[in-house]
Amino acid sequence: MVFPITRLRRLRKNPIIRDFISETSLSLNDLILPLFVCPGNNVENPISSMPGNFQLSVDLLVEECKKIIDCGVRSVLLFGIPEHKDEHGLVACQENGIVQQAIRTIKQNFDNKLLIVADVCNCEYTNHGHCGTIVDGDVDNDLTIETLAMQSLSLAQSGADVIAPSDMMDGRVGRIREILDDNDFTGTPIMSYSAKYASGFYGPFREAAESAPKFGDRRSYQMNSSNSDEAMREIALDIQEGADIIMVKPAMSYLDIIYRAKHEFNIPVAAYNVSGEFSMVKAAAANGWIDEERIMMEVATSIKRAGADIIITYFAKEIAAVLNR
Ligand code: PBG
Repeated sequence: MVFPITRLRRLRKNPIIRDFISETSLSLNDLILPLFVCPGNNVENPISSMPGNFQLSVDLLVEECKKIIDCGVRSVLLFGIPEHKDEHGLVACQENGIVQQAIRTIKQNFDNKLLIVADVCNCEYTNHGHCGTIVDGDVDNDLTIETLAMQSLSLAQSGADVIAPSDMMDGRVGRIREILDDNDFTGTPIMSYSAKYASGFYGPFREAAESAPKFGDRRSYQMNSSNSDEAMREIALDIQEGADIIMVKPAMSYLDIIYRAKHEFNIPVAAYNVSGEFSMVKAAAANGWIDEERIMMEVATSIKRAGADIIITYFAKEIAAVLNR
């Protein structure tokens, strides 16, 4: 049956009928908000390239978490800016590390009202800014997965609900699963940044987390943005190694990867709508070139439509405000 019998515009006539046939809807349950925690007291350093985002000391982070819970966002992803950095990122494995302190304090204040996802990587903690231990000018895979395992265990011990390795070393999910299980954290899930691309969209984050590499780039461990089959191999390996949730990152320019991942694997998929994707929207909106709220919702909806179950986004609070309206 074709035109004039079939007229798809019949189901677009008014908002109610459009909502009836809406195939994708966002929910508060989909959102994770990334946060940056730094040393000190009463510290609130604005991140200039990411309007509305701050490096927060633990005391202010607690206040922020209160607001987050009040607006209905149920999960945060924590990144740390340590006082000191070292060659191997060992500072990230200490019981009194900045993220460990933050996790304990959030748990003390809010119990299980917030699901705390802890990012696991060395780049914020090494003095060279790479994601692991350098040997002969490149990150050594097998040495690095040992520090990542130690960092993961320490974060789990401080109360992290989910461990999220973002380093892209081979074999790290298996090694992290092993150390968690050996230490009675069999119930702590791993959300693995499985298909993480070497992307220009991370620029603003590196200002936020003070984690830009001092030499070279991350192309010897993060993926080439031209590849899709390789992403499926990365995901398959992470699942074999024990990942509970897999992640695609960035999101907007990688909707095809999200779609493939969802259709090829029966596993929850997270997508990270990264800093550069956020900043572009903020900058264009500040210039009056786009309608910020509309674009924000359209981007998030498209990520979900592509197949993501979970969206990590700096817009989480603002999306929640729209959903609560
Ligand atoms: C750490 C890490 C990065 C991001 C999340 N975890 C930066 C990087 O790989 O350089 C980027 C997040 C964002 O841009 O919002 N490895």
